[in-house]
Order: sequence, then C-alpha cells, then structure tokens
Amino acid sequence: MNAAGARLEAAGIARADARVLMAHAFGPDMPRHALSERLAQPLPPETAHRFEEAIAARLSRQPVSQIIGARLFWKDSFRVTRDTLDPRPETETLIAAALEAPFTRLLDLGTGTGCILISLLKSMPGAQGVGTDLSPEALEVARGNGVDLGVDPRARWIASDWLAQVTGEFDLIVSNPPYIAADEMAGLSPDVRDWEPHLALSPGGDGLEPYRVMARDAGAHLTPGGRLMFEIGPTQAAAVSAELSAHGFERIEIRPDLDGRDRVVLAYKPMDTGARARG
Ligand SMILES: C[S@@+](CC[C@H](N)C(=O)[O-])C[C@H]1O[C@@H](n2cnc3c(N)ncnc32)[C@H](O)[C@@H]1O
Repeated sequence: MNAAGARLEAAGIARADARVLMAHAFGPDMPRHALSERLAQPLPPETAHRFEEAIAARLSRQPVSQIIGARLFWKDSFRVTRDTLDPRPETETLIAAALEAPFTRLLDLGTGTGCILISLLKSMPGAQGVGTDLSPEALEVARGNGVDLGVDPRARWIASDWLAQVTGEFDLIVSNPPYIAADEMAGLSPDVRDWEPHLALSPGGDGLEPYRVMARDAGAHLTPGGRLMFEIGPTQAAAVSAELSAHGFERIEIRPDLDGRDRVVLAYKPMDTGARARG
C-alpha cells in the first residue's frame, strides 16, 4: 500500500486515497480501523487485483467516490455513479439552512444522488418530498438511495426540466443546480472535468440560467411565505439575489459555507401576493 500511495503522490493525488482504496479492495466488511492489522498478513490475490485496478482508476483521475461507489454526506452514505455529482461538503450548508425552520412539503430540483432531498426528509420525519432531474440515470440512483436510506414511502422522483413537469405546492423548494460558467470549465481539476457528468457541472453560458428559470417558475409552486433556497457559486450571490428580487421574492439572505464563501441564497415568497397584485 505504501508503494501505491507513493505512486499516487507522484501523480499529484492524495497519498491517503490508497488507504481508502485498499479498504474497498477488501470489500464492504472491512472497517477502515481494522485495515492495519489485516495488512500485516499476506494479501489475498483477488484483493491485490482489486486494489491494483482501483489504483489504476485513481491514477486516471477517476474520483474515489466513483471508484468505491459511495460518498458520505450529512449523516449517511450515498451511492454515487458516473451519472451523478459527487455530493460536496459545501452543500451541507444548504441542508443546515433548510433545517432552520420546519417544512412539510419539499421539492428538490436537480436531485443527483438525492442527497439533499433524502437528508432533509430523514431530518424532518413528518415531511414528504419530490426530487427531480433531467437525467433518468441520476433519478434511478436517487430512487435507490431513497430505498436504502428508508425514505422511500415519503419520496417521489420525477424526470423534469427544472419545474416543467412539477405539479402541486411546496413550503420549501431547494436546488443545487449546475452553476459553473462555460469559460470556467477548462480550469477545473481533471477529477471533476473529465469524470463528473457535464450536465451536473455547467449549464453553459454564464452559469446563471438555471437560477433565472427557477426564480421565474418556483413562485407558482410555493405556498405563501414558503422558502426558496439555492446553492450558488461564491461569486454569484448578487446576480442570483437580483433575479429573485425581480420575481417578487423577499427577505433575501446569503449564507456562507465553512470556508466563509457565499454558498446559499435564501428567499421567501410574500405571504399575500394577491394583495400586492390588487395594489
Ligand atoms: C450540481 S448537480 C447537484 C446534484 C445534487 N443535488 C447534489 O447537490 O449533490 C445538478 C443536478 O441538476 C441536474 N440538472 C441539470 N440540468 C437540469 C435541468 N434542466 N432540469 C433538471 N435537472 C437538471 C443534473 O443532472 C444534476 O443531477
């Protein structure tokens, strides 16, 4: 394992990944804390083979989560594939903000692995939720995660281009859409750019189009006083806030992630839009 760690390091990849990949090579019953003891014995040939394959995949820059097929997010382990974004720690800022107030009907637009919808439903046992995605493959992963993590009866998964196929009203709408601008894609690390689904990373153009569409369409599916919450890129707070304001949302707030970068925009639908329209 040390030699493999050195090969990773020489390629500019974290040496510690070798340990995670070795635990994976042993199979799901090998707890990471027992690894050192197990490595004192000779490696079974099939384990050595699986480990070598995993190291080769990592050297080709495939993310660890895709190689082992899982990623820890909030309180659970989510299945991850090449069709889903690898859930990011900064997205937990959105989870924390959403849990500041109760909700009963939740909509998650662009659900990927389902990590946002499922984490929120698990934390709010009385709530029901709908997760949407344009990718049928991602929706299948989300559905499977929902079953494995026990929210199945409370979650519904639908294929939709943002809100196009959504029906009904919700008191909380959340989304972590693709937000990387087209001209920023080349600067991403190869682990992300070459392996994660393009649909999950960038909508093209200035990266803001999904926010424009959702700010335009979400109000029709929010209860009066309902919350709309977006994850954003750190430079997008002003543009996204302006878009929400232009569509009548109020009490717009920005929340930073643990690194202090703007990460979540939160806004409310006014309590009585009818009164406002009547003037
Ligand atoms: C940044 S990923 C977020 C995934 C997951 N919610 C998370 O936070 O890990 C964006 C997701 O939006 C989906 N997506 C992209 N364009 C979409 C569209 N027009 N309508 C619905 N979903 C879309 C992608 O397939 C992807 O799953």
